[in-house]
Amino acid sequence: MIGIIGAMEVEINTIKSQIDDLDKVKKGIRTFYTGSISGKEVVLVLAGIGKVNAAVTTTLLLEHFDVTSVINIGVAGGQNGVKHKDVVISSEVLYHDVDVTKFSEYKHGQLPGSEPTYIADKTLLNKTKSILDFLQYNYKVGRIASGDQFVYSKETIKEVNSEYSDIYAIEMESAAIAHVATMYNVPFIIYRSISDILDDENQAEDFDKFVEAASLNASKVLEKLIGVI
Ligand code: ADE
Repeated sequence: MIGIIGAMEVEINTIKSQIDDLDKVKKGIRTFYTGSISGKEVVLVLAGIGKVNAAVTTTLLLEHFDVTSVINIGVAGGQNGVKHKDVVISSEVLYHDVDVTKFSEYKHGQLPGSEPTYIADKTLLNKTKSILDFLQYNYKVGRIASGDQFVYSKETIKEVNSEYSDIYAIEMESAAIAHVATMYNVPFIIYRSISDILDDENQAEDFDKFVEAASLNASKVLEKLIGVI
């Protein structure tokens, strides 16, 4: 069964409407929507915003359902040349707000006991790329960075930007989802559509303006992707 996680209602609403034989079941503090898309069994859950919500929800998902891959979709802030509504697919994800670098063995973003980044599943990555090529969307494959902040300046994440040159999307959940999926040894892929661009003057307004269209973009990809997983 394919596990799908979104942080905000607007990010999951379209997908929810695509689920056939929709049913809902509560596990712990979260409501899970089950059914099928393109004939494949899926379970969808609304995580809420931020890393703790993401981690709790992913844990419940993986403890209660027989999930063989985790997909996180939604929106993100963009940088390094991406534009509104472009899609960024994760090669790897990392935390931008973790700093244990006082101990020299750790990179910025790395937690003791973890690798510096969480690596997405190559097969899921290649399948997502094929769908985006087919849909003729603009997209980048690169790193996605998460933290408990709405980031509006490249300066805020300068440490991870100086470590990695290919962070295209910044959001608030995916590294926590990837972290938990990695702990459970379940393959994952993250892709996010860009709602706002770091350092743009109208970033907050742009978020409001593009969040729906960007969410819809990400959902369209998902329906096709599930068909080929
Ligand atoms: N989600 C969408 N845009 C974002 C931003 N700029 N920072 C964090 N999360 C986001």
